[in-house]
Amino acid sequence: MNTPFIKTTAFRDVRIERIMSALKTSDLNDLCDAADSAILAGGGFGWVKMPERVVMERYWQGVVTVPHRILLVARLEGVIAGALQIIRPQLNNEAQKMSVQFTHHFTAPWARKSGLAKALLLEAEAIAREEGYDVVNLDVRETMTGAIKLYESHGYELIGVHPAYAKVGDQFVKGHYYYKRLD
Ligand SMILES: CC(C)(COP(=O)(O)OP(=O)(O)OC[C@H]1O[C@@H](n2cnc3c(N)ncnc32)[C@H](O)[C@@H]1OP(=O)(O)O)[C@@H](O)C(=O)NCCC(=O)NCCS
Repeated sequence: MNTPFIKTTAFRDVRIERIMSALKTSDLNDLCDAADSAILAGGGFGWVKMPERVVMERYWQGVVTVPHRILLVARLEGVIAGALQIIRPQLNNEAQKMSVQFTHHFTAPWARKSGLAKALLLEAEAIAREEGYDVVNLDVRETMTGAIKLYESHGYELIGVHPAYAKVGDQFVKGHYYYKRLD
């Protein structure tokens, strides 16, 4: 069952859903299309090149089966156009049981600047708070300036820069590491 959270902007309907069970075929297709188009527009959540559709489908089908991952999707006018994953700490990680990681946060290019990424971030923070977590960690390539602006404007503090965080083609790309206390 999916739990909807509805936010209607002045112009467009933005809805955030937590995926609690297997994705419907139409939603899986939308999610794959959104991810493919975001990768083609410059990536930002792991992939540098667009994988084959079957690989992308298996990836999303796998995400919803992993117990310590929460998948949130953003719909614009009913179509899935973005996502964010919350990673809870592993059971053995007692020393870091207060922190979650936000990752694979993206919006399809056609749906950008409509508030989807912001709504995903706020809903992820609300879920993390509800589940009793105190700290959010996340990291992003230094080239993802839109994401960096979004995180910094929502209180995420830069804690370090990794000089060899990612490799795109032959070039290393720096990565920015952020954290936020969920008071
Ligand atoms: C970064 C990204 C997620 C933003 O998605 P979006 O749905 O367009 O963002 P929103 O519409 O919710 O914008 C929220 C805020 O983010 C900021 N922002 C978003 N895109 C921006 C851009 N290209 N340039 C500057 N600021 C930007 C703005 O501050 C905006 O605030 P505003 O309400 O004051 O305008 C999207 O561009 C994307 O998918 N980029 C590639 C993937 C990526 O970088 N992921 C993050 C790390 S995994």
